[in-house]
Amino acid sequence: MSESVFPDGFLWGGATAANQYEGAYNEDGKGLSVQDVTPNGGMGEITDGPTEDNLKLVGIDFYHRYKEDVALFAEMGFKVFRTSIAWSRIFPNGDDAEPNEAGLQFYDDLFDELHKYGIEPLVTLSHYETPLNLTKTYNGWTNRKLIGFFEKYAETVFTRYKDKVKYWLTFNEVNSVLHAPFMSGGIGTPPEELSKQDLYQAVHHELVASASVTKIAHEINPDFKVGCMVLAMPTYPITPDPDDVMAAHLAENQNYLFSDIHARGEYPAYINRFFKENGVEIQFAEGDKEILKENTVDFISFSYYMSIAESAHPEKYEASEGNIMGGIKNPHLEASEWGWQVDPVGLRLVLDQFYDRYQKPLFIVENGLGAKDVLVDGPNGEKTVEDDYRIKYMNDHLVQVGEAVKDGVDVMGYTSWGCIDLVSASTAQMSKRYGFIYVDRNDDGTGTLDRYKKKSFNWYKEVIETNGGNL
Ligand code: BG6
Repeated sequence: MSESVFPDGFLWGGATAANQYEGAYNEDGKGLSVQDVTPNGGMGEITDGPTEDNLKLVGIDFYHRYKEDVALFAEMGFKVFRTSIAWSRIFPNGDDAEPNEAGLQFYDDLFDELHKYGIEPLVTLSHYETPLNLTKTYNGWTNRKLIGFFEKYAETVFTRYKDKVKYWLTFNEVNSVLHAPFMSGGIGTPPEELSKQDLYQAVHHELVASASVTKIAHEINPDFKVGCMVLAMPTYPITPDPDDVMAAHLAENQNYLFSDIHARGEYPAYINRFFKENGVEIQFAEGDKEILKENTVDFISFSYYMSIAESAHPEKYEASEGNIMGGIKNPHLEASEWGWQVDPVGLRLVLDQFYDRYQKPLFIVENGLGAKDVLVDGPNGEKTVEDDYRIKYMNDHLVQVGEAVKDGVDVMGYTSWGCIDLVSASTAQMSKRYGFIYVDRNDDGTGTLDRYKKKSFNWYKEVIETNGGNL
């Protein structure tokens, strides 16, 4: 075993989102969210109401089984557990006058259960689960009124969990709204009809809302640590042709826009040309500039699954599948069963580049391999999954995190995605599994919902025990 390079107090854990695992979609006063009407994945067909084929309605029934699951997380030694609060459990319509007490109580109970084992919650305020009424009545984040609704929701949960939650994230993969306006921004206009003006105005509203709730958070509890959350996907030029390098650079700017504003508090100069050439004129309300400038984030968090390539002539190349945004296939990389290109070195690159750019602490809050698992009889008669492929994926990525630490990057922690199997965001499948814990549920909705430890369960336990010394 090598010596650990990870700092003391490194926050090891796992990540989830309410809409992908809680289930109980209409219990205890919860209102509908955009997820309850997208049975084929958040970017797929939108139904009039909840339909039986929507696996997210039941999820993995975490809402009723959280005690059993938290005990398993504790057995692995989790220091932190990332989840989201389902906004529509707290404000069922998003614009209600009063919060729903039963929803608030559920998260009180969950956070208490985590603290029982010394696990720190890391809470996303908005993870692809905008209350559906905010889409239907206001067209989601295109409408400035959403800022006020979000502030009220955030203030409610900050106050309620003042002594139970220290780490907060505002919008999950905030940059994904450019690619998935309904799932990410609750915007009902079909993407092909949505103007760039409306889209980037919605972005502006989210950025102002994020800064504004960061302010509220710090007023309620100065010890709160608030981070932004971006979808990180390094974009490599497909060749060293300077035109390809420039194409990759410009594509990356579309992602940097979000972390730049969150970390620096102002729109970067490079975006002005893009706005001008695309007829976008952001409407700033009085005070927006100051809110952004005075309330930058305490840390930058991000998801990392894959990298992509870009070219000045993308039509010449094969497209790559990808996490929400696509790109060109990189011939040097292998891909997962869902076509996501596996690139551990890209994670070190993201960490190094973010840290060079912002000098703020970084938190990897999603990473992992979506794969089809087969349940088999284990050595002790217990059912298990021999998921060596997952162990390899995570081991390789964590080695690169270690390299970044050696490069001098301040990394706060690592929460692997879907630490317990849950419903996929892009495909709404159960069979795209990420967990250390197998959940017996199938794509057709059958299954006992029983939980089984995979081989990776014990591997990750050892990673945490040795603070990464076994990698
Ligand atoms: C991220 C999301 O994009 O990737 C998660 O924040 C999502 O919600 C994860 O589940 C993995 O994607 P998928 O589509 O495989 O579930």
